[in-house]
Amino acid sequence: MAAGLGAGWRAAGHRVLAGGRSGPVSLAEAGRFGDVTLLAVPATAVVEVLAHVPTGGLVIDCTNLVTPDGVGHPYAAAVAARPDLRVVKAFNLCHESAWRLPSRVFGGRPLAVPMRGPPDAVARVAPLAADLGCTPFDAGGPERAALLEATAAFAIGLWFAGLDAQAVLTPPLG
Ligand SMILES: NC(=O)c1ccc[n+]([C@@H]2O[C@H](COP(=O)([O-])OP(=O)(O)OC[C@H]3O[C@@H](n4cnc5c(N)ncnc54)[C@H](OP(=O)(O)O)[C@@H]3O)[C@@H](O)[C@H]2O)c1
Repeated sequence: MAAGLGAGWRAAGHRVLAGGRSGPVSLAEAGRFGDVTLLAVPATAVVEVLAHVPTGGLVIDCTNLVTPDGVGHPYAAAVAARPDLRVVKAFNLCHESAWRLPSRVFGGRPLAVPMRGPPDAVARVAPLAADLGCTPFDAGGPERAALLEATAAFAIGLWFAGLDAQAVLTPPLG
């Protein structure tokens, strides 16, 4: 996710620094860099990694956690651990392969990217989806971020079952 989204944002003219627990750039250095931090780590590592984001930072949480009995809630865990941060749930519904493609237009429609979080934070993150050729939309406040996590868990289940998620979610017709 970091490689795909980061490359897309670089191509759109943004400065991007990828950090990690191994490699030349530390998590702390990456956390201090720029004005938006993408958390592209396993959901179980979210709280630990958030410790490297300075007070008041703006964070994009793209993580998913599918558990044997359903879905975990990394967004709620992040907000509980760091109430000083503004966290936006976004980019978690689409497979990472989409970010490696030259275009995010599927079936003639740009990929839509729902986002949930504090409205001012969503307003800051939305242009980052537009920069990737996507259609961002504010899907509601932080109290409903868990719905995006449950939707991802459901969609991932469909993919693994070989089913067509788009067909399942067809809107009312006629
Ligand atoms: N793959 C998808 O299609 C997709 C789609 C939507 C959302 N997501 C979500 O996006 C997140 C990232 O997925 P991904 O596919 O990009 O995973 P990934 O390729 O496995 O990359 C995860 C990264 O997290 C790092 N990491 C793991 N544990 C860490 C820890 N305790 N502290 C610091 N860094 C740690 C790993 O670094 P090391 O090299 O040091 O292990 C690795 O660089 C996940 O939560 C996933 O559910 C994935």
